[in-house]
Amino acid sequence: MKILVTAGPTREYLDPVRFLSNPSSGKMGYAIAQAAQQKGHEVVLISGPSYLQPPKELQFVSIVSADEMKQQVDQWFEWADGVVMTAAVSDFKPKTRSSQKVKKQDEAALSVEWVQNPDILFELGQKKGKKWLVGFAAESKAILEHAQQKLENKNLDMIVVNDISQKEGGFESDQNQVHLIASNGAIEDIPKMSKSQIAEKLMEKIESKFAS
Ligand code: PMT
Repeated sequence: MKILVTAGPTREYLDPVRFLSNPSSGKMGYAIAQAAQQKGHEVVLISGPSYLQPPKELQFVSIVSADEMKQQVDQWFEWADGVVMTAAVSDFKPKTRSSQKVKKQDEAALSVEWVQNPDILFELGQKKGKKWLVGFAAESKAILEHAQQKLENKNLDMIVVNDISQKEGGFESDQNQVHLIASNGAIEDIPKMSKSQIAEKLMEKIESKFAS
């Protein structure tokens, strides 16, 4: 299969040095890209800023903001059979971006006006046709209910939810504990294991469900 994977955070800059972002390291997405490639699939990995080395021998696209991620995802979507979106895309960006570093004395800078970023995965869900879509959800309460809502709202085939209220797992950690929810409502609990092992399991699931 031809698989498009997104990973890492986005950065929404207020000025040349300050931005809104989140702690996503890219570990989950890079592990999925690697597992997919090792299973013989063609992979494109689109990643926000990360200190990780991109897995070798796959097409790697580096982006910074949600708008850039959307542009690249839309461009590669035609090519792909399916998409796995692990990226933690910022839902908001500042309405304006200063081209100069904002001065401490600038009192107007104390309030920032935010506008919504595009929901990339939602828009893919509107035009997916025969392609399959797997989303991720980082939730801190009522995790299965909230993930189920995202699965339905974004027209996904599967969603992987992680509970970020737990001390370990989720952002930055080498390990995670997740639940896979399929579009028919079936839930599979994956106990705590390394993100590489989760990636392997997820790829097995994807192959059994979507490879024709
Ligand atoms: O990178 P790591 O440090 O390994 O951490 C992994 C992770 C915690 C980032 C990952 O496991 C994870 O949970 N990713 C989803 C993070 C999230 O909060 O997603 P969300 O609930 O905001 O969005 C749901 C889905 O819609 C995601 O697939 C997301 O990529 C997508 N989305 C969200 C917002 C937006 N504007 N556009 C989108 O496409």
